[in-house]
Amino acid sequence: MTFTEKDLIIPQDKLKAGTTHWQSPSNIAIIKYWGKHGVQLPRNPSMSFTLQNALTETKLSYKPKEEPTAGIELDFLFEDAPNEAFRSKLVTYLDSLLPFYPFLEQLSLKIQTVNSFPHSAGIASSASSMSALALCLCSIEDDFFGTLGDDTMFDRKASFLARLGSGSAARSIFGGAAVWGQTDLVAGSSDEYAVSIEDQLHPIFKSLHDDILIVSSEEKAVSSRAGHRLMDKNPYAPTRYAQAHERLSALLPALKNGDIEKFGEIAENEALTLHGLMMTSNPSYLLMEPKTIAMIQAIRIYRKEQNVPVYFTLDAGPNVHLLYPEEYISDVRGFVHSELANLLDEGTYIPDFVGEGPEEV
Ligand code: DP6
Repeated sequence: MTFTEKDLIIPQDKLKAGTTHWQSPSNIAIIKYWGKHGVQLPRNPSMSFTLQNALTETKLSYKPKEEPTAGIELDFLFEDAPNEAFRSKLVTYLDSLLPFYPFLEQLSLKIQTVNSFPHSAGIASSASSMSALALCLCSIEDDFFGTLGDDTMFDRKASFLARLGSGSAARSIFGGAAVWGQTDLVAGSSDEYAVSIEDQLHPIFKSLHDDILIVSSEEKAVSSRAGHRLMDKNPYAPTRYAQAHERLSALLPALKNGDIEKFGEIAENEALTLHGLMMTSNPSYLLMEPKTIAMIQAIRIYRKEQNVPVYFTLDAGPNVHLLYPEEYISDVRGFVHSELANLLDEGTYIPDFVGEGPEEV
């Protein structure tokens, strides 16, 4: 599928003002995307669960430009305040979309965006924010051109546009779980956009919990973009990309059969591999903190001693994601309060679980 087949320019007499408004969630990767090439193409397929609570809400208003000018005209408010750093990143992103969306040059745009989670919580917001914006853009396309009436087409295009903003955002378009990156294991999968694998989940995974334990709410020490780039020279990269395929092929049957043990083993191995890759890059990054390791050890001991299937994963930072089935919620919350509370930054943890995906507001 290509996304450039139509010349999307609005006829002068059809130009009008309007608003579109979406909320879209973050996601947590189990098979990690780490390493990319070309224009935001992944080196390996990744798989994630879409979350329910960690959301970005984006309102995109548009009106015809008063004077025809070249380039993007954008007014931007983040949590009700101007933010020039974010605005200029968005202008670069929207500019990069002009080959697909020449009509963006005909409009004056205003983006207002808020996150459901505190900005300082150390949660990566690029997946939720770029997916919310991509969905708004698809709504505008459909409104002016009627080209995305088919839901599958709409979601694919949104995932494609989200990917161009942030790779992991491609997966947030779909409720439940998604795979991004071509693999023979998932029909219809592509490097260009993610696909849903919700219908391949055992019920135990449809309500999986992900409590985010905040070890540090400081800004990331390395941006994802810089981190991905380091993979180009990482000596373990080719083995790693092959390993991601192997792990996905072991994970998919576990997701289908409800094999939580296999799932947990793969999730933890992937998290530690991601950090191992960062540690073995040049320059190297050590993003776990002593408290991250203390939590990991406590989780493993608790799991073994209490026979409770609780596992961890990590993003490219020190915070720990606790993954466990719904039925163990009171056991796990009890464990967090009694054994992990002193390791949390200001006692913060953000309870979340697998969600239904974006919603038009
Ligand atoms: C560790 O999607 O943030 O969270 O494409 O440069 O925006 P860019 O990178 P990004 O990378 C996410 C990396 C990860 C793993 C994952 O979500 O798969």
